[in-house]
Amino acid sequence: MAASSIRFGAGVTREVGMDLADWKVRHALVLTDPYLRPMRPVAAVLESLESNGIAYTLYDQVRVEPTGESFQHTIGFARGVEFDAIVAVGGGSVIDTAKAVNLYTCYPPEDFLDYVNPPIGKGLPVPGPLKPLIAVPTTAGTGSETTSVAIFDMKHMHAKTGISHRRLKPTLGILDPDHTATPPRHVAAACGLDVLCHAIESYTALPCAERPLPARPIVRPAYQRSNPISDAWSLQALAMTAEYLPRVFRDAGDEEARGQMILAASYAGVGFGNAGCHLPHGMSYPVSGNVKSFRMPGYVAPQAMVPHGVSVILNAPAVFRFTAQASPERHIRAAEVLGAHVRGAKAEDAGRIRADRLREIMHGLEIPDGLRAVGYERADIPKLVEGMLPSTASPSYRRVRRRRKIWRRCLRTRWWRTGRSWEDSYRITTSRTFVHRALPAGPSTSSVTTYSPAAL
Ligand SMILES: [Fe+2]
Repeated sequence: MAASSIRFGAGVTREVGMDLADWKVRHALVLTDPYLRPMRPVAAVLESLESNGIAYTLYDQVRVEPTGESFQHTIGFARGVEFDAIVAVGGGSVIDTAKAVNLYTCYPPEDFLDYVNPPIGKGLPVPGPLKPLIAVPTTAGTGSETTSVAIFDMKHMHAKTGISHRRLKPTLGILDPDHTATPPRHVAAACGLDVLCHAIESYTALPCAERPLPARPIVRPAYQRSNPISDAWSLQALAMTAEYLPRVFRDAGDEEARGQMILAASYAGVGFGNAGCHLPHGMSYPVSGNVKSFRMPGYVAPQAMVPHGVSVILNAPAVFRFTAQASPERHIRAAEVLGAHVRGAKAEDAGRIRADRLREIMHGLEIPDGLRAVGYERADIPKLVEGMLPSTASPSYRRVRRRRKIWRRCLRTRWWRTGRSWEDSYRITTSRTFVHRALPAGPSTSSVTTYSPAAL
């Protein structure tokens, strides 16, 4: 198990400068995005740095929904700064970008793709310790403050990939409920559903005992599949999300619920950061990457977008109806924690019970249900299939790679040519052995900015 140290409580952001001073940091690189720049979380961090005598350089143009290009822009800026610690203030996009900046400035590779997960990159391990990184999350969703992954878009592939190694995890996560005070309720719902999926997917990932031992610890993957420790974090996150997300949706001023959701996001981060996620996340990336004109209420992004949490949950009910046959007892248990009535439930009912409960939650949060609800048609399926393949073809999942033809036949031919529901096609054409694999997970929500560094 690996997770960041976490500090929780209203107002704890004021301690950031004290920590850096105690660590003998002289100059910090502060990263945030342009939307957050004028807001309270950034001001609180800067005030703390100034009052504790920490010099800093502020870069406020991190792209929300980062890409390989935006990573490289920010890394390029950071190379011109002499810093000995990083403070990331924002959602998963900012924190993931900070992880990449830390790695690429400490150990510059010959090629940007050297550290990127296969099959897109070489997946080289992080060579050694990185600089201190403090993450100050402003959304209760990605859990990136506790995880060892940095996710980004490969725009030309309409897919996401990432960099993954346990040395990437932040040194300290600052969980300050004051900083998630006023998200629009649909934004809070989308972020909360990301938490929910992190928890369920990590709990239902394949057991860690089925993973071969690595030759050396340094090449041990961050995602170890489900295990007794990650199970505890995932189930607790699930219970907290079931109780508190509806309350945050109804009333953003519910301080107790807001605080519990930011904790739940971190709990789920510890769970999936060590176990991994699987199909709902793997399938979500092309759903967000190929968006046409859909816009989610509450989001101010200038372009069409499917928020990450929505793109994940859209496919989840259908996926879990299928994966339930591989571990019905875990699917029933997860449904029970979410509030479903499971007394007397049989194994063959596990998928239906779980899917029905998820749909009830989605409808209660006014979340679109199904791909058509966000603008996709059958003709889009080939693009969606192609976009998910990079998430399923890492060397750790060779069996998945061997099944590419089946995936294509399932999602392209049977689904969109025969008129069967994709759920039925899935059940017919895939085996229970591979869809249950853990796949890389990822963050975040959305929009575009330009590159204009602002050094203070
Ligand atoms: Fe996620």
